[in-house]
Parts: sequence; structure tokens; C-alpha cells
Amino acid sequence: MIVVLDFGGQYNQLITRRIRDLGVYSELHPNTINAEQIKALNPAGIIFSGGPNSAYADGAPACDPEIFDLGIPILGICYGMQLLTHHFGGKVEAANHREYGKAIITVENDSKLYRDLPKEQSVWMSHGDLIVAPPEGFEVDATNPSCPVAAMSDSARRMYGVQFHPEVRHTQHGDALLKNFAFEICGCAGDWTMSNFIDEQVEVIREQVGDRNVLCALSGGVDSSVVAALIHKAIGDQLTCMFIDHGLLRKNEGETVMQTFGEDFNMNIIKIDAQDRFLRKLDGISDPEEKRKIIGNEFIYLFEEEAGKLTNMDFLAQGTLYTDIIESGTDTAQTIKSHHNVGGLPEDMQFDLIEPLNTLFKDEVRKLGTELGVPDEIVWRQPFPGPGLGIRVLGEITDEKLEIVRESDAILREEIKNAGLETEIWQYFTALPDMRSVGVMGDARTYDYTVGIRAVTSVDGMTSDWARIPYDVLEKISTRIVNEVQHVNRVVYDITSKPPATIEWE
Ligand code: XMP
Repeated sequence: MIVVLDFGGQYNQLITRRIRDLGVYSELHPNTINAEQIKALNPAGIIFSGGPNSAYADGAPACDPEIFDLGIPILGICYGMQLLTHHFGGKVEAANHREYGKAIITVENDSKLYRDLPKEQSVWMSHGDLIVAPPEGFEVDATNPSCPVAAMSDSARRMYGVQFHPEVRHTQHGDALLKNFAFEICGCAGDWTMSNFIDEQVEVIREQVGDRNVLCALSGGVDSSVVAALIHKAIGDQLTCMFIDHGLLRKNEGETVMQTFGEDFNMNIIKIDAQDRFLRKLDGISDPEEKRKIIGNEFIYLFEEEAGKLTNMDFLAQGTLYTDIIESGTDTAQTIKSHHNVGGLPEDMQFDLIEPLNTLFKDEVRKLGTELGVPDEIVWRQPFPGPGLGIRVLGEITDEKLEIVRESDAILREEIKNAGLETEIWQYFTALPDMRSVGVMGDARTYDYTVGIRAVTSVDGMTSDWARIPYDVLEKISTRIVNEVQHVNRVVYDITSKPPATIEWE
């Protein structure tokens, strides 16, 4: 295992992600973890992440100094390297010119970190401080004109630093560099797989739960399905799933969930019909964040109410992913949207949480689902947000608008399936903007709704591009929606990537 210490960089989990992709298990831990705790984890290597601070500033995040004496190889990335430098008596200063984006470094040293890599390579930089003098015992591994110490190492103590970000795709040989660290320097075998993750998590869940009981809110989406399957594997009938139909589901979704989990998986599952309750609460509300909060809170209140009718429910299982956490804002990362799983939880909640997927990205969850024997149809089901169609009807929610989204979405899904595009496109759905426009149907003027089609390709939901759906498929979808869905006279296709847009429209 390789432990990543979090010094506040925005995408630190990406480092652990890249390491896991190499077949080496990796976990992100706060920078406050002490040497004893690290020793207990028995890692083959430690990575210090990047972060927004200056290593020399008062109160800058540091780590337990005894970590340096553990004899475990260390790779410092950006702030991580500056911290190494500061700790060992080198010199870190504010740069005259901050450096963001692409840079070319020249490797000057025969360090193991660059084994089989070219001397000149393109990297991605993002720093305001730089190292002007490496500490004693460290050699300069790479330079670039604006950053004389772009990388350094003390191979005897197996300590390495890079000013650039190998975890970022724009760094040409970033994966190879991390691979050299994990395999050549830390001696990892690269034999970790998702099935190891299952075994570990099953153990953790069994230990955490003991002979108590877990309640899981099952929505039928990939995340809650996989979390239910994982927990079911760990504790069987100690798990009860509750499926709340909040009236914001896609067409036929409720029936499918009950069939799959109740019948095929044979799980304990209770269905709650709460359409009216949710729609009443959402009546007249148009702000997206307020809608999210209402749906999230109502969900948990209802859940608590219903759970109160059951005996001895102690834990609540949630399919929170890493992306949900990072986009909901951490100590350092800014809030973009308060995702339902995270931001909507009421403060007086009475359950302990179990969130075994919260270190994973979506594609890892899919791998996990397949490994657990969850059918492809669910594993490859596109992501569906907790607040459901509630954030796809833009602005105020009404029955009529929900019906339009539900019906148009069903047509879109059917045609994407007919065109064989389901697995190419990460997520595709319709959204209903809060606007009407003029059209003409059967020689008469219409003044009706516009349906927006959103279809994106993505690897992890963090960034995405709009899917290049062939024109003839789009044409068919548009014609069918306008002909078959009442009160729609216009269909538009969203051609923005994320960023600057997000995947959902709210
Ligand atoms: P955005 O819109 O933030 O979406 O680009 C990224 C991924 O997250 C899903 N999403 C949500 N999931 N609760 C959820 O559980 C939410 O409030 C929420 N908002 C967005 C979105 O569908 C996409 O897969």
C-alpha cells in the first residue's frame, strides 16, 4: 500500500486513484496522521500531496517529523517537495513569476524515478513558491528555466520531490513516474485488484457493524446498488434496503428496482411511496440548492420515520463517491454543488454512516459492481442524481413538467439504446428549462416548452465533453419528443463541456 498525505491540494484523491490504477492499493490520509499510525498501515511508500500553502509560513501544514525516520520511501509533490526541503534545511521562496500550466523539464540525474523516461518531458506545473536550494544530501534531478529545482532526490534515504504534478493527465509521463516510484523505489508488486478491495471492505464492514443492523437507501442507481451489494455480501440479512419513491424517478424505475433487488437479489427491501409528500414540500421552490436541501432533508426525515418503525437500525449506508465529497467542498476545495448525499444531511441525524465507496471514482465503482456480480444492466446504468428529476425540471417543479421530463427522457434513452450508443455515452438525459417559445404545429401557433438534451462523455464525472451523437439519431429523438410529448415544441442539444458547464443543468 502507498499512503498519500493530504496537504490540501484540490485533486489529491487523484494521486491515490492513479496509484490504484497501477495495481497498488492506496489511501488518502490527513496530514495530521502520526508516524505510529502510518507504521500500523505498513505502507511501502508515502506520497506528500500538493497544497495551497507556503511551507515556510507560520502555521503551514506539516507532518509528524518522525515520519521522516520511518525509512519508508517518500515522494513529495509540489507543496510536498517544498515541505521536504523546508524540513531538511533547504530553501523555499516565493517565485518571481508564478508558474501555472505546461512546462518542459530536463532530467539531469540518473534517478530511479525517471527510469526509461526521456530527458526532456512535458509536465504540468502549478506553484507560486519554488526551491532555490535543495537540502543537504539532495541532488537536483530535473530543471526548467523558471524552476531551477524542478525535481530532486536523496536516493540513499529514498526521498524524492517533484515540483510538477504527475497525477495530472497533462504531465506527459506522470503515470510512468508514479509507476517508477511504486515499483522501482517502493518495491510494490502491482497485484492489487478490486477483489482485494472487496475482501478488505467486507472485513471493515463486519467489524464496524458487529451484530447490529444497517439500513440502506436504495435508489437503483449504480452507487446505491453497489453499496447495497457490498454490504449484503458482508452482513446478509442484517441489511435492510429502503426504496423511497419520491416521485422524481425516471419512467418505470420503481418497478425495475423492486424486481431486481427484491426478487432477483432476494434482499430485504421495503418500498415507500412518498410522491405527494415530496411534491408538496417542493411546491413553489425554484432555487436549485434549496431544492437539493429539501429533497435531501426530506429523504432523511422520511427515512428516519420509517426506520423508527423498524427495530434496531443503527447504521445508514450511503453510496457517496469521492466526486460527491470533493464537489461538495472540503476544508480546501470550494463548493460547486452540494450533492444530495453529502450536503443535504440534517444535523440531527440519528444514524452512524457507512460510506464504503467514498474513496472511489465512478468507473472504479462499476468495476467493483461487476466483481460483486451485480448485473451489467445496473453496473452500466448511467449515473442518476439523488434529487432525481427534481434538478432536471429547472426552477419550480410541477406534475406537468415532471411528466414532460419523464416522457422525453424515456424517448431519449430508447433511441440511444436503438443506436447502440449506451456504453459510449457516460450520461444522457433531458432537462426542462423554465421557458417557453413560439412554434408552429398543424398551421397553428404554439407557445410551449423547450426540452434540452444533455449527453456527455466522461471518465469520472469530474470533467466531461458533450457526446457527438450522430445527427440522424438526434433528428429522430427530436422528432419523437415533439410528436409524442405534449406541450413540447422545441428540442435543443447542449454542446458545452464541463468545465465551464456542469453535467446537470442545476
Ligand atoms: P455535475 O452536474 O456536478 O454532476 O457536473 C456530476 C455528477 O454528479 C451527479 N450529480 C448529483 N448526484 N446528487 C447526486 O447524488 C446531486 O445533487 C447531484 N448533482 C449532480 C450528476 O448526475 C453527474 O453524474
